[in-house]
Amino acid sequence: MDGKSKMSNVSGAIFFILGLFFLRAAECRTPANGGTVKYSALSCRKHSALLTDFGAVGDGKTSNTKAFKAAIHHLSQNASEGGAQLIVPPGKWLTGSFNLTSHFTLFLHKDAVILATQDESEWPLVPALPSYGRGRDAPGGRFSSFIFGTNLTDVVITGNNGTIDGQGASWWKKFKAGQLNETRPYMIEIMYSNQIQISNITLVNSPSWFVHPTYSSNITIHGLTILAPIDSPNTDGINPDSCSQTRIEDCFIVSGDDCIAVKSGWDQYGIKVGIPTEHLVIRRLTCISPDSATIALGSEMSGGIRDVRAEDITALSTQSSVRIKTAQGRGGYVKDIFVRRMTLKTMKYVFWMTGSYGSHPDPGFDPKALPLIQNINYKQVEAENVTYSARLEGIPNDHFKGICISNVTITLTEKPKKLQWNCTDIAGVTSNVTPKACDLLPESKEVVDCPFPEDRLAIEDVKLVTCSTSLPFF
Ligand SMILES: *[C@@H]1O[C@H](CO)[C@@H](O)[C@H](O)[C@H]1NC(C)=O
Ligand SMILES: *[C@@H]1O[C@H](CO)[C@@H](O)[C@H](O)[C@H]1NC(C)=O
Ligand SMILES: *[C@@H]1O[C@H](CO)[C@@H](O)[C@H](O)[C@H]1NC(C)=O
Ligand SMILES: *[C@@H]1O[C@H](CO)[C@@H](O)[C@H](O)[C@H]1NC(C)=O
Ligand SMILES: *[C@@H]1O[C@H](CO)[C@@H](O)[C@H](O)[C@H]1NC(C)=O
Ligand SMILES: *[C@@H]1O[C@H](CO)[C@@H](O)[C@H](O)[C@H]1NC(C)=O
Ligand SMILES: *[C@@H]1O[C@H](CO)[C@@H](O)[C@H](O)[C@H]1NC(C)=O
Ligand SMILES: *[C@@H]1O[C@H](CO)[C@@H](O)[C@H](O)[C@H]1NC(C)=O
Ligand SMILES: *[C@@H]1O[C@H](CO)[C@@H](O)[C@H](O)[C@H]1NC(C)=O
Ligand SMILES: *[C@@H]1O[C@H](CO)[C@@H](O)[C@H](O)[C@H]1NC(C)=O
Repeated sequence: MDGKSKMSNVSGAIFFILGLFFLRAAECRTPANGGTVKYSALSCRKHSALLTDFGAVGDGKTSNTKAFKAAIHHLSQNASEGGAQLIVPPGKWLTGSFNLTSHFTLFLHKDAVILATQDESEWPLVPALPSYGRGRDAPGGRFSSFIFGTNLTDVVITGNNGTIDGQGASWWKKFKAGQLNETRPYMIEIMYSNQIQISNITLVNSPSWFVHPTYSSNITIHGLTILAPIDSPNTDGINPDSCSQTRIEDCFIVSGDDCIAVKSGWDQYGIKVGIPTEHLVIRRLTCISPDSATIALGSEMSGGIRDVRAEDITALSTQSSVRIKTAQGRGGYVKDIFVRRMTLKTMKYVFWMTGSYGSHPDPGFDPKALPLIQNINYKQVEAENVTYSARLEGIPNDHFKGICISNVTITLTEKPKKLQWNCTDIAGVTSNVTPKACDLLPESKEVVDCPFPEDRLAIEDVKLVTCSTSLPFF
């Protein structure tokens, strides 16, 4: 052994001791404030950068639009070499709309807040979705979503519960005053993409819908907290729209519109594009939305909605549980819907179906395009403090059929309405339901347990891996 390596052994020992000391020190700080964090994701990334490497300033006032764009552009170069992650450190990071890239992870530290700018010039205009023909708020174009991605694969937006704040109040005000000529931005929109994960973050005050995957497949969403004032306009929580293989788990949503709204395009535009939402599983959802549904199917359903499985759903002070919304002119279908184990408290309606929703994109819709509503199954539902058990309104000459409702106990509010089950233009069966259903849903002579599929969807077999990343800040 020569002198040099003796020296390096001694310094090695010193570094080892110092290292232990620092490790101790790091352990004393809460791990979430720095050090190493573990998170689960579709894939871990070889390359990692901090937003501050690109000149970002987290004071809540400085615009970081350039920093986000530069960071994502730079990291897109690592796509083919194991992908890259961008870490958003503690701070308030004001920015305009920005676009994602493939093989990319956006990781928000728990004390990071990404703030959406209120400067309209930082929101590019993008064309209407082909399956809608126009913007949802106004004819013509729409503002790009705050965080947008198109034609991507393998994208993760996650964190240990960091926050994205859409600062929606100014948009809600302008929308209510009729001062917008374009459709408001959504918070996160991913189009024509595959292998998407959005998890473990808090989303607040979106200008309009929060999470909008469209024309996409293989989507994992879990651990989202979504919060908007209950009177904010169209702040739907999660809207899978013409998507296949989607899994939504463990989300808590308080909003001014539907907590989850399953969609597939609007009237003649949706019929023409013809991409259904199918193979969707929703579990362990908690919803508060006094003026809207826990899970809405529609009203835009012209590309079809099928094979939706929802279980272990909780709703409090919400207008309805699962609501089907459609109209003449929509075409398409809502079929093979399976729901079990709902716990509901303070609801206007437990079950609601509406065949006269109206709301057409333009007068060019075909009134002869009738939707097919069939094979709708609800079971194991406990509801308290309910005003109406059900309002089930099909379409004359286009009855909603194959409705099965079993094992449902509904306790009514102090002053319940007399007509508890208001049914028109529907057909089906009930079993072990209180209060007793309408004549169009007669009690079966044999005990019926409405079906729920036993097989697993491909998206349920997508395994997440544990990633470990060092957060070099304290
Ligand atoms: C993300 O959420 C899941 C379940 O919702 C939880 O098991 C996991 O520990 C969370 N991960 C992080 C990094 O917060
Ligand atoms: C990421 O890309 C940059 C720029 O092309 C390159 O210098 C770096 O080596 C890449 N990192 C990895 C881990 O491949
Ligand atoms: C994001 O991409 C879309 C479509 O490619 C484009 O129209 C838009 O301007 C981009 N947004 C930003 C902020 O660069
Ligand atoms: C994205 O994919 C769609 C559907 O495949 C295609 O029509 C469109 O041209 C693609 N856009 C880009 C920018 O590649
Ligand atoms: C995430 O943060 C939100 C808002 O502060 C909080 O309500 C929620 O409980 C947190 N979730 C987790 C898993 O810590
Ligand atoms: C909206 O359009 C009207 C009529 O074209 C125009 O007068 C008005 O200035 C526009 N408003 C905005 C905010 O662009
Ligand atoms: C879905 O995503 C998983 C994990 O990213 C991947 O292994 C699988 O091939 C994807 N499936 C399809 C059909 O794209
Ligand atoms: C029951 O529902 C009514 C609205 O119908 C509400 O005002 C009341 O607070 C609820 N009661 C309880 C105990 O939650
Ligand atoms: C449904 O109710 C029937 C009659 O009370 C009961 O025998 C059965 O176990 C229940 N089934 C489920 C799946 O809860
Ligand atoms: C029953 O439902 C129909 C159709 O939704 C509605 O027009 C009617 O007002 C309801 N009747 C009562 C008594 O609630």
